[in-house]
Amino acid sequence: MTIEFSERIERVTPSATVAISNAASELEAEGVDVVDLSVGEPDFPTPENVIEAGKDAIDAGHTGYAPSPGVPELREAIAEKLRADDLDYGSENVLVTPGGKQALYELFQTLVDDGDEVVVLDPAWVSYEAMTKLAGGSLSRVDLAPHDFALEPALEDLAETVSDDTSLLVVNSPSNPTGSVYSDVALEGVRDLAVEHDITVISDEIYKEITYGTEATSLGSLAGMGERTITLNGFSKAYSMTGWRLGYFAGPEEVVDQAGKLHSHSVTCATHFVQYAGIEALRNTDEAVTEMRDAFEQRRDLLCDRFAEHGIDVPEPDGAFYLMLPVGEGGDDEDDQEWCERAIEEAHVATVPGSAFGTPGYARLSYAASAERLEEAVDRLAENGLL
Ligand SMILES: Cc1ncc(COP(=O)(O)O)c(C=O)c1O
Repeated sequence: MTIEFSERIERVTPSATVAISNAASELEAEGVDVVDLSVGEPDFPTPENVIEAGKDAIDAGHTGYAPSPGVPELREAIAEKLRADDLDYGSENVLVTPGGKQALYELFQTLVDDGDEVVVLDPAWVSYEAMTKLAGGSLSRVDLAPHDFALEPALEDLAETVSDDTSLLVVNSPSNPTGSVYSDVALEGVRDLAVEHDITVISDEIYKEITYGTEATSLGSLAGMGERTITLNGFSKAYSMTGWRLGYFAGPEEVVDQAGKLHSHSVTCATHFVQYAGIEALRNTDEAVTEMRDAFEQRRDLLCDRFAEHGIDVPEPDGAFYLMLPVGEGGDDEDDQEWCERAIEEAHVATVPGSAFGTPGYARLSYAASAERLEEAVDRLAENGLL
């Protein structure tokens, strides 16, 4: 028989970042030593006290379903964290999900109808496009690449793109894939446009805790934004908890109620005992988070310095653990795809083409790898004529 697939699922392709990291794993399985700079995953273990809290929660019998929107103590701990970031949320504004990705998926399904316009800032994290398509929305993109990935100089372009017909704007600071942290002036510009055109905004702050010498302002803390902003965060990046699958969003209570319907009919709840590990992560990991952040900063400096030695000027990221390396000659689609293919096949260095993020002419490198491996990656790229 022929299985008929939904038109909806035919609209999307698998995640480019996941596909590349699978290709790297396949090469590794063949015995090839690959420096994998394609993954968005901290290379540190989950802090020990967080692991213990998860184990204790299993021992305490938290192995059944949790309340669908999350364990009350975790929802309160999240609201407390958000209030410390100047966001006016109570536990009733928080929905706990299995990973930030699931929170975003639920939000797109809840907020976007067929034909609705969703605006993203390019280069944009790969899943925003897929989630827009799955919800039936149409994507408009504002390119930050001509401005070294800063938002402030692109505000005019954003103003030309958004209109009263825009349903949703997605802002991600610090950004994946650029590492840019948007200035307060830029965020105020976003605020003015969102208020003028009555646009709902998702502020994806999953890298908020990872910044270097600056802080990422929460968009929802700006005057006029609380009622229209949904703040997204999770535990994967700041606490090195990718495999635990724990994330959340916070926003107006009606958004929690509406998205909560999809949540209850799909995942039911985030894993019960994992939520207790989340409470520990929020309350007792300041030192571990600082150590990881300092290590990322040193690696960023190392990579930028090494590329500068090869005459390549990389826009220095202020946050997250990614940078965009300019590659190829003409900056067209084929250049960056071809460069990344050569990087993995010839130099055995895995990276992600910028075109996967809507911005050809670059490769995204994750520096969630040891200094030694980063040095090795630069050496191999240079030896293979890729720098
Ligand atoms: C920008 C951005 N948002 C959200 C996520 C979701 O992360 P998770 O589902 O692991 O919480 C990621 C993960 O790579 C990301 O890069």
